[in-house]
Formats: sequence, structure tokens, C-alpha cells
Amino acid sequence: MDKTRLKGKNCLITGAARGMGAAVAEDYAAQGANVCVADLNVEGCEEVAARINSKDGGRAIAANLNVTDRAQMRAAVAATVEAFGSLNVMVNNAGINKPLMFMDITEENWQQIMDVNALGTLIGMQEAARQMIDQGKENGPYKIINVGSILSRQAFDDVVPYSCSKHAVLAMINGGAKALVDHNITVNGYGPGVVRTELWEQLDKDLVNIGKFDKQGESMDKLAENMILMKRYSYPEDVIGTASFLAAKDSDYMTGQLLMIDGGMIMQ
Ligand SMILES: NC(=O)c1ccc[n+]([C@@H]2O[C@H](COP(=O)([O-])OP(=O)(O)OC[C@H]3O[C@@H](n4cnc5c(N)ncnc54)[C@H](O)[C@@H]3O)[C@@H](O)[C@H]2O)c1
Repeated sequence: MDKTRLKGKNCLITGAARGMGAAVAEDYAAQGANVCVADLNVEGCEEVAARINSKDGGRAIAANLNVTDRAQMRAAVAATVEAFGSLNVMVNNAGINKPLMFMDITEENWQQIMDVNALGTLIGMQEAARQMIDQGKENGPYKIINVGSILSRQAFDDVVPYSCSKHAVLAMINGGAKALVDHNITVNGYGPGVVRTELWEQLDKDLVNIGKFDKQGESMDKLAENMILMKRYSYPEDVIGTASFLAAKDSDYMTGQLLMIDGGMIMQ
């Protein structure tokens, strides 16, 4: 690993107390980036930041953040700038899911998922971009990275609101790239497939409760067998290469793109 590949990049990563967000934060720091680890779960953030700060590489701070709260998003951006001097990379990773069969979807289910996954991404993009624009385009390029999903490009009948929210993430990658290009800000994203994280542990239980699978622990193996070309599900480590590519100089001539990291589930 090149420990200086992301040196000089000051990054804010939402939903980074655990799962893929934590893995990306630790990998960015190992490659020299400074990271603000932001999440609803501030204790988790502090643990991730402490792990980073106990090693060589970039430095970390923790921030308490609900991505649906614009004032908190502004405060997390400000804390990043205060600690490290600027904001160069924003990763909008926080996300939730709660499966329900199509006819059982409620307004509450729709609203909760759309609020965090779609509105939270919009607020993260806007508040990061505001700071990046203030820093001046001559100091770019700046990078906004949104976490989509295989469900940014198709929908399953038991997770329609989640699929809508991740289609919205793709729309914001496309539209945001066009809106921000003149400020030397690129907008790209990656779309994981089936990743073994706590989100999926909960999803697995919920899928049994709504009758989609017979027993717990079955969903990931069945999806791997039936829908993933490589016949295995993934782990947070599987996304970090693409996440760091999108933060690094290597992707400077890319914008408006969503890259799938799914073992060959979606081909478009
Ligand atoms: N696990 C998968 O199979 C999978 C597949 C495709 C996409 N994704 C997406 O990847 C991203 C990370 O997922 P993960 O599997 O690591 O999930 P995870 O549940 O392990 O971690 C998500 C983190 O987001 C935080 N969070 C939730 N709501 C928040 C809010 N309102 N404000 C701030 N933080 C909040 C949680 O506290 C948690 O720490 C999400 O956007 C998810 O939709 C996951």
C-alpha cells in the first residue's frame, strides 16, 4: 500500500462508526488522509478515530452527526476544517434499510428511509460543496463520493423505498456532477452489492419476519448462490479499493459515475 497516496486530503465520512464507513475511514487514514469520522453513534466514531490515531498515517476526529440535520452537517464540516484546515473529500455513506413487502409499505417506512438515504445525501453534498466552493477552485479538485447500491439500478419487491432512495443517490451523482463541475468538484459514487455488515445482519432478521426467507442466516448465501456471478457475498474490505480510487488523483478525470462493486450482479 502507498501510505502517501491520500496525503493532504482532508475527508469527512458519514455513517463511519461501523461497517463500510469505518473500513473506508481506516483505509483512507492508512493512505495518509485525515478523516472526520461522523455518525449518529458518537461512541463508535470515537473508537474508530482512536484506532486510527493509534497507528501511523493520517489523523482522525469524531463527530456526532445525524445526516438529516443540516445544522449538524454544517457543524461536522466546520469541525473537519477546524481540525485539518480544509475539506477535500466528502463521502456520503450513512444509510438505513427496513424491508417490507410492496403492499405493506407505510408512509413512515418510506419517510425514514428516504430521509436518511436521499435527503441526508443531498444535505451532505450541499454542505460539503458550500465549503469547497469557499476554498476556491484553484485549490481543488474536490471530490464528493456518494454510496449507492445495486438498488440504484434495479429494485426488489421487498425493499422498494430503499431502492427509490438509492436511485435518488444516483440522480444526485449525475445532477450534482453537472451542478458542481465549474467549481472543480467531481461527484462520483460506488454501489455495493451484498455486504456482510450489521446492516445486513438486521436485514437478514427482517427478511425472515416478512416471510421472504425461511430462516436466519439464509438470505446472504441464497443471494450469493442465485444472483452473484462470483458466488460469494462481500465484506467491507471489498469496497475500500474503489472508495480510495474515487478519493485519489487516479480518478480526477471522472465525474457523474456510479461504479458497482457487486461480484457481477448488475451489468450496465
Ligand atoms: N450492507 C450492504 O449489503 C449494502 C449494500 C449496498 C449498499 N449499502 C450501503 O452502504 C452504506 C453503508 O452500509 P453498511 O452496510 O456499512 O451499514 P451499517 O449499518 O453497518 O453502517 C451504517 C452506519 O450509518 C449510521 N447511520 C444511520 N443513520 C444515520 C444518520 N441519520 N446519520 C448519521 N449516521 C447514520 C449508523 O449509525 C451506522 O454506523 C449505506 O449507505 C448502505 O445503504 C450497503
